Amino acid sequence: MTTDYDFLIRIAFEAREKSLCKYSGFAVGAALLCRSGEVYTGCNIECGAYSATVCAERVALFKALSEGKTEFSAIAVVGGNVDETETVYCSPCGTCRQILWEYCDPDDFEVIIARSDVDFSVHSLSELLPFPFAGSKE
Ligand code: THU
Repeated sequence: MTTDYDFLIRIAFEAREKSLCKYSGFAVGAALLCRSGEVYTGCNIECGAYSATVCAERVALFKALSEGKTEFSAIAVVGGNVDETETVYCSPCGTCRQILWEYCDPDDFEVIIARSDVDFSVHSLSELLPFPFAGSKE
C-alpha cells in the first residue's frame, strides 16, 4: 500500500473548491482512490433543510459506487473555513465512518486527514471506527 499520498491530497483540495457550504461556511473536499488507480472526488453539498446535507466523503464514495467501483484503497479529506486557505484536520464524521466501513476494507483502507500535502496523518477504518454496527456484513 502506498504512503505517497501527496497527489491524492492535492486532488482533495481541488475538490474542496467546489464545496457548496453556504450554511456552515465550512468547506470540505475528499478524494477517493480506487485500487484500479482511478480517483473519485467529492465536496460537501449543503441544503437549507439541514439534514439533507451530504458530506464530501460520502459524495465521493457514492459517485464511485454508482459507477460500479467496489475496490478502494484510500481517501484523503481536507476541510476548513471556506474563506480561509489554511485548513484544519477534518476527521470524517461518524456517519461517513460507518459507510466507509460498509464498503471499504476496515484493515486495508487508509484515511488520510490532511492540512497540506506534507502535513497529514494516516488511519485505518478499524482505528477510526473500532466497534461498528456490522448488520449483515459479518
Ligand atoms: N462535513 C463533511 O463534508 N465531512 C465530514 O466528515 C464532516 C463534516 C461537512 C458537512 C457540513 O456541510 C459541514 O462540513 C459542516 O459540518
